[in-house]
Formats: sequence, structure tokens, C-alpha cells
Amino acid sequence: MKLTAEPDDGLDAIPGFPVVLITVDNNIMTAAAFSFYSFKPPSVMVGIIPENLTFELIAKRREFGINFPTSDQFEEIITCGTASGRDENKFETTGFTPVPGEVIGTSLIAECPLNLECQVVHQIDFGGSHCWFVGEIVKAHIEESYRRDRALMYWNREFRRIGAIVN
Ligand SMILES: Cc1cc2nc3c(=O)[nH]c(=O)nc-3n(C[C@H](O)[C@H](O)[C@H](O)COP(=O)(O)O)c2cc1C
Repeated sequence: MKLTAEPDDGLDAIPGFPVVLITVDNNIMTAAAFSFYSFKPPSVMVGIIPENLTFELIAKRREFGINFPTSDQFEEIITCGTASGRDENKFETTGFTPVPGEVIGTSLIAECPLNLECQVVHQIDFGGSHCWFVGEIVKAHIEESYRRDRALMYWNREFRRIGAIVN
């Protein structure tokens, strides 16, 4: 049997999204509103709440870094998702090492095994809770030993590791 549910319950039931650490300028912010956007040109998108410092910085600089943390960087993920760059320098609080982007003028996180340098190509703002920035990937950095299953997924107060390959 299937229950007819409210729209919010349908949203809550979504399985999850990869947790990313967005860097812009010298700030870091945790986000789960992250998605693939296009193969050609290779592009991704991030949803940012306009009250966050990250929104102000991306809107101004038109670029951002997407850094994929591993599930054992949980403490740093929470710090970057609860503290604001308006109050503290999150590179200093987490101990993460900033490395300059090759193309963009924003720091990336050395300890994250996958980093994407993105330049904003669209801003989607329809007055909802999140404003979406579409970023074209202009450079990527991938650790040799990188494995997708080291990432962390999140949705609706649940953090999960990625499971076994089915096919
Ligand atoms: C697991 C997790 C996921 C989050 N996802 C988002 C998100 O997708 N978009 C967003 O704007 N804020 C998200 N947040 C909240 C921000 O990370 C948080 O408000 C942060 O303090 C903003 O930092 P800033 O002011 O330095 O930009 C998330 C927080 C956590 C813990």
C-alpha cells in the first residue's frame, strides 16, 4: 500500500545527496544541495541560502570550489556547516590547508581528494529558500587513490556512507 503524502513529506523522502564543501574566497561552507547539471560543458550546481556568507561571496566573485570530503572528515563537515565565515576563519578552525586554484582565485582544500574549480554561468533565483549557482568546471584535481565510496551522503538529518556497487 502507498500513502498519499504532503509535498514536504515527498521532499523529505529523497534518498540523499553528496555532501560537499564549497570554498569561495577564503571561506568554507558545507552543502548537500549539490547536483550534476551538464556533460557539455561539464557543469554542476549548488543551492545556497541567501543569508549565508557563501551566497554573498559567490554572487560577487562569480566562482567557487567544490571539495569532496571523505566520511572520516565528519567533524570538519559539521564545523563548516554550523559556523559562519562572518564569525571565524574556517580554514583555521578545521585545520584544513588552503591551496590556490589554478584557474580561479579561490582556495581549495588540500585534504579533500577531489576538487572542482567552477566559474558561474547561471544564477537561478526564484524566491525560494535556496538560490542556485550553475558552475562550469574549468579545472579538476583528483587524488590518484580516489574512490567514490569514500564520500558522505546527507539528507533530512541522516548522514550515510555510499553502499555496494550493484552493476
Ligand atoms: C550537512 C549539512 C548540509 C548543508 N547544506 C546546505 C546547503 O545545501 N545550502 C546552504 O546554503 N546551507 C547548507 N548548510 C548550512 C550551511 O553550511 C551553514 O549555514 C553555514 O554556517 C553557512 O556558512 P557561511 O555563512 O560561512 O557561508 C548545510 C549544513 C549541513 C551541516
